[in-house]
Amino acid sequence: MLAVLSLFIMGCHKHKKDVAESAGRKWWKEAIVYQIYPRSFKDSDGDGIGDLKGIISKLDYIQRLGVDVVWLNPIYSSPNDDNGYDVSDYRNIMKDFGTMSDFDSLVKGMHERGIKLVMDLVVNHSSDEHEWFKQSRSSRTNPYRDYYHWWNAERGNPPARYSLFDINHDAWRYDSLTNAYYLHYFSRKQPDLNWENPKLRREVFDIMKFWADKGIDGFRLDAFQFVAKDTSFPVFPEGYEKHFQLYYGIGPHLHDYLQEMNREVLSHYDVMSVAEGAGNSMRDAHMLVDSDRNELNMAYAFEGVDIAKPEGYSLLHFKEVFSRWDSAFANDGWLSIYLANHDQARLVSRFGDDHPAFRDLSSKMLTTFILTMRGTPYYYNGDELGMTNTGFDKIQDYRDMSLLNEYRYQKNKHADTIQFLSKARFASRDNGRTPFQWDSTANGGFTTGTPWIAVNPNYKIINAAEEETDPNSCLNYFRKLVKLRKSEPALIYGKYTLLDKANDSVYSYTREWNGRKLLIMLNFKNQTAAEYTGIEVSHLKVLTGNYPTPSVPGRLRPFEALVLEISK
Ligand code: GLC
Repeated sequence: MLAVLSLFIMGCHKHKKDVAESAGRKWWKEAIVYQIYPRSFKDSDGDGIGDLKGIISKLDYIQRLGVDVVWLNPIYSSPNDDNGYDVSDYRNIMKDFGTMSDFDSLVKGMHERGIKLVMDLVVNHSSDEHEWFKQSRSSRTNPYRDYYHWWNAERGNPPARYSLFDINHDAWRYDSLTNAYYLHYFSRKQPDLNWENPKLRREVFDIMKFWADKGIDGFRLDAFQFVAKDTSFPVFPEGYEKHFQLYYGIGPHLHDYLQEMNREVLSHYDVMSVAEGAGNSMRDAHMLVDSDRNELNMAYAFEGVDIAKPEGYSLLHFKEVFSRWDSAFANDGWLSIYLANHDQARLVSRFGDDHPAFRDLSSKMLTTFILTMRGTPYYYNGDELGMTNTGFDKIQDYRDMSLLNEYRYQKNKHADTIQFLSKARFASRDNGRTPFQWDSTANGGFTTGTPWIAVNPNYKIINAAEEETDPNSCLNYFRKLVKLRKSEPALIYGKYTLLDKANDSVYSYTREWNGRKLLIMLNFKNQTAAEYTGIEVSHLKVLTGNYPTPSVPGRLRPFEALVLEISK
């Protein structure tokens, strides 16, 4: 009887503890997000452009990856100045990508496979071909005039604003029709929407409801930290454009807008929400996502992804950045963990080593990092194959409007375009947008037509079909790591502790949750390196590693990655 009673009491304690520990548990914290760039994923109709039917044909592949959520870059109607980030109709599908019925089949196919769908919501700006803008520019008294930011020319020149994508970097574009300038932080074809206007906000919330009612599972808010502007348009100090983020990020009322969005839309659905960019400080980031704020679910900060530079990067800096973000979010709020996306060149080329000797190992090592940190991992399509930068050397090969405009800007200034192109080979976002390499047939099996951007010639060696058959491929390693994360709550929720902080080659940390403790060791260098964690590793069970042969305790081979069990 006593034994039964004590078992019961122990059970109660355990139950209380489990409840406490699982209080903060959320599906979107436990999810692994796989980002698909639809234009480059799979073309079903031979026009050289990826499409929704193409994605549908690959749903089994996506399911076999083991990921839970797909984030799709914009698929709405668009004249494609910025590959869909210039929306002309928020309730329709881009012709190149298919129809609404294809979309419905896609959602159904995903949900049948237990995969959730997150859509990109691009509402800092629309396309200049959106009906709102057509109306807005037609006259100063049009009811849509205040959907955008206009500066009447009789007031003189508007205070300078920097445009990220404009050929002259001028964010004001003169429109003779009404003798006024409109604001565009990105390209001329991407006029900024006026969030101060409650009618505009209502339109956006209705659009969000439209998609949420269709059954989607979340929103990624594009460039959202820029939506709120001081519409008195104060003059910014000289040189502000070098730090434009400081002046553009988290403007007045941004939090009011987000709380309104949460009240009106997000709180009524079981959806996840993440905004691109997290402001200018930890405080900014917290204010977007802390649980008592009722704004968004998780921060997507740029500091980590920006570390890689053409000249290389310091691992000490890398560790410092990721550790600082982790500790700032140890108690409240939640982070995204990522090192690549459609705005970056390839993961292995930027953060690893894409030479044949190390591509495979360094790609697996980086995968290990992304899938063993605290935060929701965002993994970019193609990185699971270890796809590399393509290294275009002619300007004619590039497609990204922002790069083409910058090239013209540099040329007009008589700057060194050779140097510009050499930098682009490393950094251009077109590197991350070359077609997905499915197999070794023509165009890597992406299309039967002419691809909209050239396929990386290495598709004959690096492709999904080849990697399917090799148990040690990057692809199968990714699947293994996904499984490991899914089976180890410690990797999701566990406390992160940095070890061997001063080691400039090896990144070691533990993850600890509910008595379970794992040790992760990653050699970021192409040479054997020693670790000084002080932990005797020879007797520890290896849960996973990226070398086929056992490791030598205390030393990590080039780009070696190990996940070890310290306690059960
Ligand atoms: C975001 C997107 C990027 C796009 C820009 C303008 O940064 O990620 O691809 O070009 O916004 O919409």
